[in-house]
Amino acid sequence: MRMALGNFPLLVEGNQPMPALSRRTNELGTENAFVVLAEVNELQRRGKNIISFCIGQPDFPTPANIQDAAIRAIRDGKHGYTPSAGIVELREAVARDIAKRRGITVSPDDVVVAAGAKPFIAYSILSVTDYGAGDEVIYPNPGFPIYESQVRAQGAVPVPIPLHEARGFNFDPDELEARITPKTRLLILNSPHNPTGGVISRPAMAAIADILRRHPQVWVFADEIYSRLVYEGDFVSITQFDDMQERTIICDGASKTWAMTGWRLGYAVNKTLAPVFSRWVTNTESCASQISQWAALEAISGPQDAADEMRKQFLERRNLIVKLLNQVPGVSSQNPGGAFYVWPNVTEACALVGAKDSEEFRARLLNEAGVAVLSDIHFGPRVPNEGQHIRFSYAASRQAIEQGVARMAEFIRANSRAKGKVAT
Ligand SMILES: Cc1ncc(COP(=O)(O)O)c(C=O)c1O
Repeated sequence: MRMALGNFPLLVEGNQPMPALSRRTNELGTENAFVVLAEVNELQRRGKNIISFCIGQPDFPTPANIQDAAIRAIRDGKHGYTPSAGIVELREAVARDIAKRRGITVSPDDVVVAAGAKPFIAYSILSVTDYGAGDEVIYPNPGFPIYESQVRAQGAVPVPIPLHEARGFNFDPDELEARITPKTRLLILNSPHNPTGGVISRPAMAAIADILRRHPQVWVFADEIYSRLVYEGDFVSITQFDDMQERTIICDGASKTWAMTGWRLGYAVNKTLAPVFSRWVTNTESCASQISQWAALEAISGPQDAADEMRKQFLERRNLIVKLLNQVPGVSSQNPGGAFYVWPNVTEACALVGAKDSEEFRARLLNEAGVAVLSDIHFGPRVPNEGQHIRFSYAASRQAIEQGVARMAEFIRANSRAKGKVAT
């Protein structure tokens, strides 16, 4: 027999219930992208042709010079544990690179390396909030689902801040100020943003910094994992504004810039928290894979041609998919400034095909048209008055983009004809 307990099933043997799980465990969410991926895999297993735009990772191989560095590390016997904060060579390279690209000063002592950027979301919340103390964390909605999941699991209070299409998927600074209380401990920023592709402009970031100066109790987690995938203008980091660097945890990594998602290598920068993060790493992972650390050293300090070329291709694909989506009946898409996501508004398309919301639209698009995307509810509760959205990851070939969007257009046309509505 199975009984639901939070997100997890509770097993009961005869009349004997199993020992309970923690509240923390029951608050732990997930990335629903993985649920959709399971659906996609099942359909593909049954022989259905699916074009997938679900996955948030580059579709390129890791550049050859980085692969070679990893093989060299293996051959040179780099097999053991490293210091928890990471090898000195990599911490120096990260410090130099983060400093150069943001125009700030960073010491290698302020850098900690871990198995991806993701662990630092948990480490940061764990380090600045206390369980059940009413400590509040503000994070973007829609947003990367791990933010809310970790806030809840660590017993802090989730305070989502809505992003608005009319602001290029930024939040309204006044709405930020209205959410800050004496209990606010952490503000999570993510620019370029998953899932919208939105970028926080320099004036918008300046407005955020102005507000934060009035609230010195607030730490900032700057999720800058897409910092190298900005398509118009320079990348803007909150750390570039007066008084912000000391209280900001910069989080970046190798996954998206050098197509290294499976290598698990990310880093965080903050002078005060570096020793704290280092201790968390000692308590959890011991250290990031030594092989991946040497590979990341090559990624950061070796030639950047491959990373630049990937960025160029993402930009071409962004231009293509935005153009094509805006020709689809009932669909309108902004031109997102970064990452490899596009977040079209499908409110009208839902009405045309008779879908009650973006999630029903997504499920039908998958089952009837063979196009896999994620819907807005996979990234937090839908923001009122903002309409229905779906997410395409355009880390997919040009051909997949052309065919996938054509299938979607045909699905909408065919279903709106059937419903007696005219799709133009
Ligand atoms: C916004 C955001 N932050 C963090 C991560 C995690 O990246 P990593 O692979 O370095 O753990 C992702 C990955 O999808 C992401 O989209």
